[in-house]
Formats: sequence, C-alpha cells, structure tokens
Amino acid sequence: MSDNLAAWDVREEDFPIAGDLKDQMKGLLRYAVLSPSGPNTQPWKFSLKGDEISIIPDFSRSLPAVDPTDRTLYISHGCVLANLLLAAEHFGLGYDVTCLPDGPSGERTSVVRLSKKPAESRFPDLFQQIIRRHTNRKPFEGRAIEEEKLKALKSCINKDGFRLDILTDSQGKNQMADLLARAHKIQLGNKAFRKELASWVRPNISPAKDGLPGYSFGYTDFESFFGSFVFGTFDMSSSRARIETAYMKASPAVGVLSTDREDKMTWIKAGVLFELLFLKATEMDVRFDLFSQPTAIAELRQEMAEMLGVKYPQLLIRMGYAEPAKHTPRRTVEDVLI
Ligand SMILES: Cc1cc2nc3c(=O)[nH]c(=O)nc-3n(C[C@H](O)[C@H](O)[C@H](O)COP(=O)(O)O)c2cc1C
Repeated sequence: MSDNLAAWDVREEDFPIAGDLKDQMKGLLRYAVLSPSGPNTQPWKFSLKGDEISIIPDFSRSLPAVDPTDRTLYISHGCVLANLLLAAEHFGLGYDVTCLPDGPSGERTSVVRLSKKPAESRFPDLFQQIIRRHTNRKPFEGRAIEEEKLKALKSCINKDGFRLDILTDSQGKNQMADLLARAHKIQLGNKAFRKELASWVRPNISPAKDGLPGYSFGYTDFESFFGSFVFGTFDMSSSRARIETAYMKASPAVGVLSTDREDKMTWIKAGVLFELLFLKATEMDVRFDLFSQPTAIAELRQEMAEMLGVKYPQLLIRMGYAEPAKHTPRRTVEDVLI
C-alpha cells in the first residue's frame, strides 16, 4: 500500500484494548480520519486533554470560493464525529458528546468525553463499514436498487428536521441532472472557483496525503499529470461536467439530503446522519457519488427545494451499483493531532 493510503490499513487487533485511555483515544481517531470531506481537504484537527477529544476545524483547509459559509466543512465534521462514536461503541467505550461546546463561534465543533465504562449503544453497528466506505465516481450499473434497500437508506435520515428524498423516476433524475449541469456551468465559469478546486486535484502518483488523485475521476497515470490543468481549464472541466450529468441520468437513483434549518449545529448533525447513511449504503454494496455544487448556488438550491418541497437541500447523491473504487489518500492521526 502506498504511503499516503497507509491510514486505511487499520486493523481492529491494533486497537490498544488494554492500553490507557490516551492510547485508546488515538486508536479511535484512526477511524475518524477516514471520514469523507469535500475535495478530500480533511479540514480537521484534534486535541486530547484528560478524557476529552476535541474536534477542531482547520480553516487553513477551507474553501472560500467553493464553500464560502463552510457548510460542507461542518458536514464533514459530523462525519468525523459519527466515525469516532461508532469506533468508541465498537471498542466498548462510553461517551458523552457536546456539539459546539464553546458556542457557534467558538473553536471546537464537538467535544467527546470518553470513559472506560461502556455506554448503551446508540447507533447501528456499522463500524466494519468505515474502512470499506468510499466515494465512487464510476458509471453505475442500470439495475435498480431494491425497494427494501431504499427504505433502509431513507430510515437512516428521516428524523425530525432531516430528510432524504430518493428519486428513481427519469423525470426526477433528469431534473437533478439538469440542476447539476447548470451549477457546473455557473461555478466552472468562475475562475476563482476553478482555481480553488484545481488546487486539490493531484497526479495519481503524488505522495500528498489529501486532495483528489486523478484516478478518483478515472484518469490514467498519464492523464492525471494534467488533472489539475483539466480542472483549471473551462473547456476541460465542462466536459467533466457533461460526463457527471450523463452518469446521473443513467443511474438507478438520485438522493437529496435536506434539513429544516441552516446553521452550524444542523450541518454537524446532518453530517453524523449522512455518514451513517453512507456506511449503511456501503454495507448493502450501494455506491455513492456526491455533489455539493447545486446546493452551493442560492437560486439553484431554491429551485431544488421547491421541486422536492423541502427547506434546505444540503447534498445531492448519485446512487447505484458498481465495482468498488480505490481509496483516496488520508493524513494519519499523528498529522492531525495538536
Ligand atoms: C460534505 C461533502 C461534500 C462533498 N461534495 C463533493 C462534490 O461536490 N463533488 C465530489 O466529487 N465529491 C464530493 N464529496 C466527496 C469527497 O470528494 C470525498 O469524500 C473525498 O474525496 C474523500 O474520498 P472518499 O469519500 O472516497 O473517502 C463530498 C464529500 C462531503 C463529505
């Protein structure tokens, strides 16, 4: 396994089950760092103090052009929190969580206080899926996702204030694909946006522990040398947008995760539920490809909200079956501990 994928090589038997709490906290963080984040910026840091793990945004990795409100950053922190808690439950540790413990403008997004006394488990057992979960940008097979799987996916999200719509009809999928195409056109026409996104695209053989290697878009090693250029150039990036739109129309299902509120606490909670959804899909071998573009543009987001009868669409998800894709790089626990 190449070095920048080493973080994925985490084995249950390596967890210091008889170790002290501090070593166990580091053991849990090995699962937290495998969380998804928009262009794999991994905008997080962690600090350990006594029995507490603090999750802290790394704003040096935020995306001022692509995500000016840091919405996707907070969603990704919810994903981190979900992985951390699933791992704690799996290894028999108890926990207490406070989100935004220092208030909405405070430094930390969550603090998790751990204890060696196991708590009652609050989550479905999706721990084993953490190392299998990945974003899959391949074309999906045409076969439908079974009704009971769609039901299981919806039940991960449909709670007070959170909703998952899944569209399987051509009209609904085409409408979402059209919004995606328009979002791409608006965003890729914006040089600052293209430059910011391009700065996270890497050649396949790059040793970088973050960002998107060309292989995640299906580029060969040779093509991937130009990947950053591809994303920074309008003509090339618009051909990428055409591919994504066509894949969406041809996929068996398209999901939209929405919330009733729009604030940091809601984004974190949406992230927790989203990660549980992603892991549930992984357990059922359903692949996800994610798009935050249409929900980042106010007019398109409003259109999407009206189409679905929801308040705040947060993420567009292409769903279907495909062979697993290769993992993307990750920083290790040592890289993200302060
Ligand atoms: C909140 C959020 C938004 C995302 N938005 C996009 C997106 O707009 N386009 C995209 O290709 N991937 C998107 N992704 C997927 C990330 O690029 C992906 O999670 C990251 O590269 C890590 O890869 P992995 O999911 O395979 O571990 C998003 C992920 C999250 C958590």
